[in-house]
This record gives sequence, C-alpha cells and structure tokens, in this order.
Amino acid sequence: MKTRNVRGERHEDDVGCRDERGDLVARQGLEEAHVAQVPVARLLDRHVGVAKEWFPHDYIPYSLGRDYDKEPWTPDQPRLTGVAQTAFEVNLLTEDNLPSYHRLIYKIFSKGDGAWKNWVNRWTAEEGRHAIVIRDYLVVTRNIDPVALERGRMQNVMSGYDHDVNVLQGLAYTSFQELATRVSHQNTGRYSDDPVADKIMSRVALDENLHMVFYRDALAAMLEIAPSEVVTAITREVLTFEMPGSAIAGFVRKAARMADAGIYDLRIHHDDILWPLLRYWRIFERTGLDAEAEHDRDRLHRFLDKLDASARIYEERRAARRERESSAAK
Ligand SMILES: [Fe+2]
Ligand SMILES: [Fe+2]
Repeated sequence: MKTRNVRGERHEDDVGCRDERGDLVARQGLEEAHVAQVPVARLLDRHVGVAKEWFPHDYIPYSLGRDYDKEPWTPDQPRLTGVAQTAFEVNLLTEDNLPSYHRLIYKIFSKGDGAWKNWVNRWTAEEGRHAIVIRDYLVVTRNIDPVALERGRMQNVMSGYDHDVNVLQGLAYTSFQELATRVSHQNTGRYSDDPVADKIMSRVALDENLHMVFYRDALAAMLEIAPSEVVTAITREVLTFEMPGSAIAGFVRKAARMADAGIYDLRIHHDDILWPLLRYWRIFERTGLDAEAEHDRDRLHRFLDKLDASARIYEERRAARRERESSAAK
C-alpha cells in the first residue's frame, strides 16, 4: 500500500534492517490510524439499542429430558437425520471455539480505544449464548452422542483458530464470516425438520445478522476514508476465505455432506454471502482507486466468475446424481 512507504534515512551497512524497522513502524501507525477512524462508539450504541436480550433456557424442550445415569445415550435415540446431525455438530463445534475467536478479534482491534474493547467483550458475551443453546438442545433431545460432542469440542478448541490479518481485512473477514454463520445456522434449522431446532437456529442467526451489520457498516465507513486499502483488503479476504470450523476433525467430509444437502455450498457462498456484501459496499462501482486497488478489484472479479462457474458445475453434478439415485430407487 502506498501509505506504508514511510522509511528513515538509509545507510549502506544496515539498509535491510532499517527498511524492515521503518516498514513495521509505518504499518503499525497505519493500523492505529485505521482502527481509530472506525465510528465504533456509534455502531456499538446502535447495536445495543436493537439487540434484544434472550435466554437459552427459554428455547430448550426440557420435558423431553431423561436421566443419562439411568438411560445412557444409544445410537437409536436421535430423531434428526444423519446430515442434520452433521450440520448441528459442525455448527456447535464452530461456536465452541469462541476462546480462539475472542483472542483473534481482540488482537485485530487491540489498538482501538475503550469503545473497541467494549464491543469485543459484548460480542464475545453474546456469542457465548450460541454454544450454550445448541448444546443444551442436543443433550436434552439426545440428537447427538454427548461424549462425541465433548471430545469434538476438546479437539477443536485445542487446535485453536487464527487468521493473521490487518484491521481492514479483519473487518472484511468478520463481515463475511458472520453472514456465513447466519446462513449456515438458518439452513441447518430448516433442514432439521424440527420446529424447536428451527426456532433455536433462527434465534442464533438473528444475533449473527446483527454482528454482520456492525462489521459491514464499520467497513463501509472505512471505504469512505481509505477506499483503495479497503478494496485490497476485501480482495485478499475473499480469495483466502475459509470457514472458521475448518479445524474440526473430518471437516472436509462433513462440509461436503452439508454442501450436498444444500445447507452450505458454493452457490450459497457466491450468491448469499459474497455478492450481497460486495453489492452493499458498491465495490465494483467505485472510482478513484489507486493502481494496486484496481488490479486487486480485477482479480476479485475474475475470482467471482470462476467461483460462479464452479458452483454451476457442482449443482449440475449434484442434480444428475440425485436423478440417477431416484431412478435407481424406483
Ligand atoms: Fe455465533
Ligand atoms: Fe458470529
């Protein structure tokens, strides 16, 4: 980025060292400037004004509960189908990794003022409800083996999660990630065919939506201040995006099952996650970008075209396979 090129006087014998030091100082200064320019106090006030308090226990069907001492879990007890179980497991284990996400966003926004710290803590406290309500539901209804769930949580939390990005890419990451979890939770609830689960996942999705709105509008404000840097940050994030649950054991296989069921697939990622935010930020309508940002925006466009083509191929293959399966079953 142009603004990073602030360096001290060079001496022949330690040019590399001074370059690195100068670059680091410039980078840190830029990070501080960016995090200070986000209207975080206003966005936090707005968030607190619209977020409704809710209680996980209100959503749990405790009347279905039975004593695990007298009646241990057995594989015939779940009422959810296999794919719905997989989706619930992936979504819960993803939520379980909150210690990593807290550490991550604290690190990204740590150069911010008190309002930033209030936001990070408020966000963490709200996110904490998600694993509570989903786990309580699964344990009370016996829809997943509670021992497997606990072992999965241990494995995933111990693996940790990190995403080493600057403030602007951090805002792009959190915007896409909150929208992705909102859609994944919502679709998991619908797919479950259980009105209780659907209500729980809709409630959680509402939280994810408000979180997405906070980060989306924080980045929108930065687009007015540093448009070229934001376009570069968004491009980097879209090209490297991965779901935060990727450290879950067997994630690739589990994600493939969820894609096959249409809970989260390439089409959803392209149509319902990436494009709504890119449109909201008017990324492809902006003028006056510097050469690096123009170049990145071209890369972003090419990437989206390729993703769209891959999504189409995936959908066609899935439809053909379903067709074959249904004719074989007749
Ligand atoms: Fe969440
Ligand atoms: Fe979230």
